[in-house]
Amino acid sequence: MNSNNVTVVGLQWGDEGKGKIVDALAANSDMVSRYCGGANAGHTVKVGDEKYAVHLVPCGILHEGVMNCVGNGMAFDPVTALGEVEHLQGRGVHVGPDNFSISEAAQVVMPWHKLQDTLNEESLGKAKIGTTARGIGPCYCDKANRSTAIRVADLLDADGLTEKIARVAGIKQVTFEALYNYKGEIDVEGITAEFIEIGKKLAPHIRNTGALLRRATAEGKRVLFEGGQGTMLDIDHGTYPFVTSSSVSACGVPAGAGVAPKSIGTVVGIMKAYTTRVGAGPFPTELDNEIGDAIRKAGNEFGTTTGRPRRCGWFDAMVVKYTADLSGVDELAVMLLDVLSGLDELKICVGYKVDGVLQEDFDPANLADVECVYETLPGWSEDITGVTSYDDLPANAKAYVTRVSEVVGRKVGIVSIGPDRKQTLVYNTGIEGIFG
Ligand code: GDP
Ligand code: IMO
Ligand code: MG
Repeated sequence: MNSNNVTVVGLQWGDEGKGKIVDALAANSDMVSRYCGGANAGHTVKVGDEKYAVHLVPCGILHEGVMNCVGNGMAFDPVTALGEVEHLQGRGVHVGPDNFSISEAAQVVMPWHKLQDTLNEESLGKAKIGTTARGIGPCYCDKANRSTAIRVADLLDADGLTEKIARVAGIKQVTFEALYNYKGEIDVEGITAEFIEIGKKLAPHIRNTGALLRRATAEGKRVLFEGGQGTMLDIDHGTYPFVTSSSVSACGVPAGAGVAPKSIGTVVGIMKAYTTRVGAGPFPTELDNEIGDAIRKAGNEFGTTTGRPRRCGWFDAMVVKYTADLSGVDELAVMLLDVLSGLDELKICVGYKVDGVLQEDFDPANLADVECVYETLPGWSEDITGVTSYDDLPANAKAYVTRVSEVVGRKVGIVSIGPDRKQTLVYNTGIEGIFG
């Protein structure tokens, strides 16, 4: 069965502007569900003078009447989530059981996961991945290991949880001592008391979210799947090992939200008009120079989660063509086009060469030694942040978007020219009734 649903997926290395588009599309959706990752994500929504940065609560939370779900495929950090809920409520945003659900099958990020993330990165020295230190990798390790995992449903059974925490903490204590020469002591009693309390607070939100999403889909309602990270960080299809630990492409939606593959609906691929990356790993179009610095400054390219400066580079059509193909993208949203204003010329990477030979297939595991083949396009000097219709963009800006669409081989439905909701040019979207 095809559906009214929409999947929003990042096509680069994360931070493409997914939050802004999910917020825009949520206005005419019934439910929003995350399906991958956890508090490693940082999604920003700007509404007038207000700016919201969320990590675990889906971006549909700012719209009344939308149910927001933490999918079963997530690494859910309840401490961060509760802080986020309180923060939103403090700013007058309603968050309650009627608009925020957490899958009982999601994995719980425990304090030892965050500790291990840090200890492990320290032990790797120069070979570190540059994680967000949110415990994501260690939490998914335990998911795969099964016997040391704690799921959200476990938070509801105080006695079972007490036993489990004692057993797993004991294993972690000896493992960390052996692996990292860890001298500290995991506070079993403190963690137990804290997580029993958390279970009580979250209980009204804990549900079978897969069932909710499948029912809504069957009833013809619109569910929006909110991607985390970007496809080049996908555990299977990204620049391994410099990736995150979950399935972030649209391929991860069915397993991570508990819906049928055909229910992912229209796939909107979110891409920056250039490229950024946080953390270590190959980045063929990186500009480690004054142009990269100018892009970082104009785009305020500092991580939403960790505050780290993002590495910046030219638009890489090889990457986006690959990731758009992988997720079956129906249309592109080209974000942060305004950031490129003022550059004399712009480059787009349209091919890779290795030892002088043009590569036929894109291989995400072998990007370190590629030489980029660039096309150069003229820039534009006008400030485009106040433009209200695609047609009114400078000719060179339109030519740039057209060329991006051609080389990626996908149509562009949305162009974003600023962080605010209003700075969104919708000109060719195929999603019916999505914009009010
Ligand atoms: P996400 O992780 O994909 O949701 O993206 P982030 O929120 O981490 O990073 C995107 C940043 O770009 C945020 O600060 C947004 O407010 C901002 N942003 C989104 N769209 C635009 C745009 O079109 N222009 C500009 N200048 N900023 C944008
Ligand atoms: P959003 O949803 C950008 C990166 C980290 C690191 C690698 C592994 O905001 O686009 P992890 O903590 O997941 O084990 O780190 O992945 N990373 C992101 N980069 N945006 C994100 O999310 C990211 N989530 C993880 O910087 O390189
Ligand atoms: Mg982000």
